[in-house]
Amino acid sequence: MCDIQDSTMMLVRINMRTALAALCLAVLLIIVFWSRCGEFSHRPIASVLSNGLLERGAGTGGVGGQEIECVINGEYSVACHRDRDQVYLPFSFIHKYFEVYGKITSTDGVDKFEWSHSYSKVYHPKKKYDPRGTFATFENYNVEVRERVKCISGIEGVPVSTQWEPRGFYYPTQIAQFGLAHYSKNVTEPEPRVRIIDDGEKVLENWIVSKDATISRVYDEEMKTKVLKFSTSDHVSSQVWLKVNISQDFVLSLDVWFKPNSSITVVLQNKDKKETVYLHYVTSNQLIYAQEDHIYHGIGTEVKWRRITRDLIIDMQKGWALLDRPKRKSPRNKFRICSVMLRGRGAVCGVRVSSSEHMAQFYAAADWLASGQRARGGWPVLARRHVAPSVPDLKPGWLSAMSQGHAISVLSRAYHRSGRARYLLAAQRALLPLDVPSAHGGVKAMWMDKYVWYEEYPTTPPLFVLNGFIYTLLGLYDLHVIEGENSISLAKKMFDDGMTSLKTLLPLFDTGSGSFYDLRHFTLGVSPNLARWDYHATHVNQLYLLAGLDPDPVLIDTAKRWEGYMQGKRAAHN
Ligand SMILES: *[C@@H]1O[C@H](CO)[C@@H](O)[C@H](O)[C@H]1NC(C)=O
Ligand SMILES: *[C@@H]1O[C@H](CO)[C@@H](O)[C@H](O)[C@H]1NC(C)=O
Ligand SMILES: *[C@@H]1O[C@H](CO)[C@@H](O)[C@H](O)[C@H]1NC(C)=O
Repeated sequence: MCDIQDSTMMLVRINMRTALAALCLAVLLIIVFWSRCGEFSHRPIASVLSNGLLERGAGTGGVGGQEIECVINGEYSVACHRDRDQVYLPFSFIHKYFEVYGKITSTDGVDKFEWSHSYSKVYHPKKKYDPRGTFATFENYNVEVRERVKCISGIEGVPVSTQWEPRGFYYPTQIAQFGLAHYSKNVTEPEPRVRIIDDGEKVLENWIVSKDATISRVYDEEMKTKVLKFSTSDHVSSQVWLKVNISQDFVLSLDVWFKPNSSITVVLQNKDKKETVYLHYVTSNQLIYAQEDHIYHGIGTEVKWRRITRDLIIDMQKGWALLDRPKRKSPRNKFRICSVMLRGRGAVCGVRVSSSEHMAQFYAAADWLASGQRARGGWPVLARRHVAPSVPDLKPGWLSAMSQGHAISVLSRAYHRSGRARYLLAAQRALLPLDVPSAHGGVKAMWMDKYVWYEEYPTTPPLFVLNGFIYTLLGLYDLHVIEGENSISLAKKMFDDGMTSLKTLLPLFDTGSGSFYDLRHFTLGVSPNLARWDYHATHVNQLYLLAGLDPDPVLIDTAKRWEGYMQGKRAAHN
């Protein structure tokens, strides 16, 4: 608000809005301010609106009364309207000034103006949190559509982030969230539709073999099934292909064994046939590139059997983003798969298209975490991170307690589902950095030398970020439960210590009308860092979840009070 440029821009915009408002009552979003202030807050909005302006009728071409200049704190002006002792401020101003939200909605031809104090939603858990089930509210997450996800790697099957490094890097927190979202969707969504295209044995397609190309069906010792071997010449028209007509479902998976310079291409067509997109999965280590309607994902160059699982719509959208094409609404309803082509030399089997492949995507994340973990238990973040002014940047290679905790949550679930000890061992090893101070390459901070805090950003001095800390606690809880509740567990001890810290420090995060994202105003002596509404809602969701695990009233009471802040309630003043 205090930025000069900002307020000038706002004035221009407000003047334009006001000019428009004079012409069209429908776009005029007005709230009444009584000159005797305080009174307006007792009147419901609808009555304010109807008393204030609606009864004047739309035919008059504007709000009655005169223009009046509103001087805001003696600093700048906003054009307002006056009708006797009432002054009307444009909602565009109120929105910015008070950070409240509003929109006109219409039911049965009757318009209403809906005001809301926050833009975020709280989820009330229906049952006690169970580490074998959904992770927090992550069934609602869709990590891959985020703009800061460059693409899903064709080699690793996990997202590549551009958040702090435009070239893209593997961000362990994001990869774990991708895994946890798919695991949670596996738990909550209905069974997927699966269409087998060619399994080599029972379901066989009649692949079309063009000039210079050959196919054969041979038994493969490693896959223990018959596979489709193919070979094409270098000529562009030489290929082995299938004509299909699949709409609704867009997750393709298949086992491939490709020699160099081989590829599989999926052709998607807009249902009105005006647009054709070619998704090429090529033997290359380049992540993604695109040229007009051709989008290429590298699937690596190793000559060995591996299963690839691709959400074709996501791959298409990431290609479009690379080409700077505008985002489009629901392409899932507009496209169909019309052919699949093989080029080069190799073999495929187990070709299928499904509505989802959540477990394959979940295990891609779990496997990336299990094999990418360093000996001392961490997943270094290979991007520089500027966290706060006056604190040195975190240098590439820093660890995050949030990554550690999320990874533990993924690995605990992978162990629970698969029984593979590899996942359990990785989860247990991930505890090590939580006991190493930030200054020594770990993620541990102490509050007043007494209360341990697992740092999402291990800066010195520490920041005490709240949401990342709670996610770490959830990871510890997950591991402890999956290990078996009766075991003597390091995870349990770390969880209990962390809960003591949380319950002690939680009041410090309460602003009386919202929450603090971290405690930098204490540790760095800078101005406080308020949590924006989506982070505040995350805090509330997390506290409701923890309140189901620990009966201490500070958790449930804080959750309820903080939820109230999202509806405009405030702590009382003196
Ligand atoms: C969830 O995973 C199980 C086991 O892998 C699978 O059988 C089931 O179809 C999956 N359901 C969904 C909705 O992904
Ligand atoms: C594809 O199938 C849909 C029905 O599912 C049909 O309406 C459409 O004409 C088919 N397109 C082609 C090219 O066969
Ligand atoms: C792959 O194709 C490129 C260009 O078409 C060619 O230069 C290269 O030799 C090929 N590599 C192999 C291993 O066939």
